[in-house]
Amino acid sequence: MGQMKDDRTRRKLPYSDIDLSRWKEYDHILTDSLWILNSRKKTGGHCLDYHGNFVPQIAEQVMLRYTKKDDIVVDWFLGSGTSAIEAVNLNRRLIGIELKAELVDYVRRKLPSQVVGSRIRLLQGDSTSETARRDVEQALREMGSEFAQLAILHPPYADIIKFSDSSADLSNCTDTDVFLRKFACAARNAFDTLQKGRFAVLVIGDKYADGELDPLGFKCMQAMQDVGFRLKSIVVKNIQGNEIAKGKSNNLWRYRALANGFYVFKHEYVMIFFKG
Ligand SMILES: C[S@@+](CC[C@H](N)C(=O)[O-])C[C@H]1O[C@@H](n2cnc3c(N)ncnc32)[C@H](O)[C@@H]1O
Repeated sequence: MGQMKDDRTRRKLPYSDIDLSRWKEYDHILTDSLWILNSRKKTGGHCLDYHGNFVPQIAEQVMLRYTKKDDIVVDWFLGSGTSAIEAVNLNRRLIGIELKAELVDYVRRKLPSQVVGSRIRLLQGDSTSETARRDVEQALREMGSEFAQLAILHPPYADIIKFSDSSADLSNCTDTDVFLRKFACAARNAFDTLQKGRFAVLVIGDKYADGELDPLGFKCMQAMQDVGFRLKSIVVKNIQGNEIAKGKSNNLWRYRALANGFYVFKHEYVMIFFKG
């Protein structure tokens, strides 16, 4: 009886487990567009073991906001598996695609063996390809769903960090236009495999090249919109928690900034899209 009454008073969204009738109890869920995260979360199996991994709080926030328990998240650039660890912690399912085979093996070893291959599927592949899209569709079918309930895209920020020697690696694109054409293919794969009424999250930063700022974030945002996504929010997040190298290189960047008239990047974007 108590449970029935509880169900009647709950105000649930179609895409999350947040109970709006108790909205004042969700202090831990961010709703402002500026995220100043003081440190990287190190509990729950997370560590800074990969140059270029995002802080776990990004995966945590977007999964809590945009998925329900047991929903399927597809991470198109899995990297060291931050989103996979968070999916396990939050009782979500996940399909992750990563180009580097050794990284896929590494993530497999990090995760609890009972979830690998069932609740968490790890695929080696090129996220921009037709093959990756078919592999994701196949994995979704095997998990009993036609579509994913959340897409995460955290591509290389063009050539800022080189991830491998593979020509399929987005960090090896010769210029921004080539990068964007390839990124658009991954965005299209994400759009086509996502359930209508659900969300996609793009984590991206800008870059400097030849004395100019290249607004990679906004160019990728446009690529997401061009494949059909609607923009919901642009969150600006500090990048303090991502940095491995500090000290000397910070001073060098400060000198370069003063000498060349620019500002040192201290932010990246978490952009939220919706498939209407
Ligand atoms: C910014 S990192 C993602 C980090 C991840 N969010 C994490 O927390 O570990 C980008 C990843 O994309 C991978 N990558 C690059 N090109 C790719 C492609 N065409 N298909 C799939 N993965 C790719 C790189 O190897 C790298 O691990």
